[in-house]
Amino acid sequence: MRVPVDLGVFGEYLHYGMPLTLVTVMKEDGSVNVATIASITPLPGEPSRLVMGVLVDNYTARLVETEREFVVNFVTPELRSAARACGSISGVTTDKMALCGFHPIPARHVRPPLLDESPMNIECRVEHVIKVDDLVLFVSKILVLEVVPELSNGRGGVLVEKLPTLYYAFGRTFARGPIVGDDVF
Ligand SMILES: Cc1cc2nc3c(=O)[nH]c(=O)nc-3n(C[C@H](O)[C@H](O)[C@H](O)COP(=O)(O)O)c2cc1C
Repeated sequence: MRVPVDLGVFGEYLHYGMPLTLVTVMKEDGSVNVATIASITPLPGEPSRLVMGVLVDNYTARLVETEREFVVNFVTPELRSAARACGSISGVTTDKMALCGFHPIPARHVRPPLLDESPMNIECRVEHVIKVDDLVLFVSKILVLEVVPELSNGRGGVLVEKLPTLYYAFGRTFARGPIVGDDVF
């Protein structure tokens, strides 16, 4: 027997354990917008890509479609309240970078900055824009995935056991648990 689960009006209870992220994108006036996005999935194949789902009414959808570049900044437990603010306020009316006191640092390949407060970041360039009802899917090339030195193993890998990423599941947030298994899948 199985019990069906209520998925919420915006599918907010469909997220069954995704990393929470803060996506930065340039605004028309050269300042930066930041919004909380959980619907990001890496895709298999070469080059490395990810797909990001943004509701069409969000300012971020319009900005990413125009700018074609964005940065995914992974959220830590310390950034939880900022993620709540950036996930409920529109960048049309509010400077969320200032509101949250974020410190931008230059990206390697794109105009929008990394957030210094976030220890893992992905610089992306949009390749395909797919519109489905009230949703915009951005299939994007990953230009680089970067981590702070404390998360690097020094050989191009990530110290997974130290990842401080915050996850979003069924409307709640949780921290990464212990590694299970010694082998690499
Ligand atoms: C935990 C959480 C996850 C969210 N995930 C997404 C998402 O994946 N896609 C989306 O379009 N909006 C998502 N949102 C909602 C946007 O962050 C929110 O509508 C925000 O105000 C948009 O800002 P903007 O108008 O400046 O783009 C999420 C909000 C929260 C709190």
